[in-house]
Amino acid sequence: MTVDRYVWQPTNAEIAQRFDLAPNRIVRFDQNTSPYPTDWAPTVAAETLTGLNEYPAASYKPLRHAAAEYAGVQATQVVPGAGVDELILLAARGFLSPGDRAVGFTPTYPLYRIATEQQGAVFYELPSAEPTPDEAAALTWLCVPNNPTGERMADAEIIQILDRSAGIVVLDAAYAEFTGDRWGSWIERYERLLVLQTLSKGFGLAGARVGYAIGNPSLVDAIDRVRPPGSISTVSVALAIAALADPDRMRQTVGRVIAERQRLSGMLSTLGFEVRPSEANFLLTRVGPSAPELAAALMGEGLVVREFPHIPELREHLRFTIRSGSDNDRLVSTIERIRR
Ligand SMILES: Cc1ncc(COP(=O)(O)O)c(C=O)c1O
Repeated sequence: MTVDRYVWQPTNAEIAQRFDLAPNRIVRFDQNTSPYPTDWAPTVAAETLTGLNEYPAASYKPLRHAAAEYAGVQATQVVPGAGVDELILLAARGFLSPGDRAVGFTPTYPLYRIATEQQGAVFYELPSAEPTPDEAAALTWLCVPNNPTGERMADAEIIQILDRSAGIVVLDAAYAEFTGDRWGSWIERYERLLVLQTLSKGFGLAGARVGYAIGNPSLVDAIDRVRPPGSISTVSVALAIAALADPDRMRQTVGRVIAERQRLSGMLSTLGFEVRPSEANFLLTRVGPSAPELAAALMGEGLVVREFPHIPELREHLRFTIRSGSDNDRLVSTIERIRR
């Protein structure tokens, strides 16, 4: 079987060239990243730059401790990775064998299927609207809040899945900072629950590529056994530790994103679009049959949005990441101009 590859969107440089745009006119509404530059980061990064002839310490102990402190767990319950994406692939490698059954509630993040199939396991889709436990699954993928819908599965549904699953449950909490969810007490209660968290979204460090998994030490050990020795750079480790040590700074920017989410949602509704309620930093929006043409026209203006040509029920939808106030205004006024 050929495994699908993860499809990357065109880069800023490619878009600038294709549409003859100045690179600084391009705004990414497609990657669910933070609109706010990390102005504190250059100083932190600079301190690491003279030691780059050496490898990072492969155990990543200081990073484990910083993540443990932030998440309210023990360092033995933490394993770091180069973003949640790497941890998704490692979880599949650690917990799935050829022929195993894994389950995901779709539409959801496409990497779960890819990671499953890379192990020769089989990915079964169940509808995210009514998530029911699958007792035969060796691994259940949960995305809370879910990308691309923005919905947060109810606690009762998560508990039902945890109670009735014999296999491992991997809960991707990439957007946890936007709901304020604290998963530390859950991993104490559920031995087969592994929660994946990231510095890319609420903490605004997507380019640094740092994430971590929390879970029972036996699950953490299973990931430690299959992870590469040094996939997180010395610079990224320093940035992540500094970010985790100052959660108030993160909460401030997350608060601003949530306020902008409400404003952008209102503006998109005024345009006549059906905007789904969202618990994350993006809005899934039904714009109608012209979704592909609108996305193409926006890209020509340097505004890159996410479309879903391969998901039948989302073909009329676009997903917009919440950007800064002025960028969101530009998105809305550009849509108005295109539709005139
Ligand atoms: C659900 C989900 N998981 C993981 C990721 C990737 O996270 P990271 O940057 O930590 O690899 C994303 C990014 O869009 C995501 O939406």
